[in-house]
Amino acid sequence: MARITVKVDGATYVDDVEPRMLLVQYLRETLGKTGTVIGCDTSNCGACTVHLDGQSVKSCNVLAVQADGREVTTIEGLATDGALHPVQEAFHQCHALQCGFCTPGMIMQATSLLEENPTPSEEEIRVGMEGNLCRCTGYHNIVKAVQQASGQSEAVSS
Ligand code: FES
Ligand code: FES
Repeated sequence: MARITVKVDGATYVDDVEPRMLLVQYLRETLGKTGTVIGCDTSNCGACTVHLDGQSVKSCNVLAVQADGREVTTIEGLATDGALHPVQEAFHQCHALQCGFCTPGMIMQATSLLEENPTPSEEEIRVGMEGNLCRCTGYHNIVKAVQQASGQSEAVSS
């Protein structure tokens, strides 16, 4: 076992973990943060996306021990004082989900994308989100939501 100290969604946790434990397992099984989900076993789907020190990562591709001394934000830490993050609000308003399984990862990736590029083109959004797969929506409303969150909603045809 290895002892890790990690800040997750603003709270600091100290835990002993198996060296092989994945960050997504730590978040879900140890901390009970089941908003971060597992959609594949091939690091392809992006459903498990979180921020590690402000950068989006697929948490099934990171070991819990690699988060030692670092800060993780999950979908559960995005809202502040009960108010949805603008990207969450835009996904809601644009109906950018159907079953919702991909949504936590989509939103975490979109917030990261917008931090790096506050006014992305549609093409830049599609490229920036290509590591996140959705089986339901056809992506149109997801792109629309990201553009709305960036203040570019008028630029999108419906
Ligand atoms: S569960 Fe991490 S990429 Fe699919
Ligand atoms: S809304 Fe169902 S997988 Fe994306």
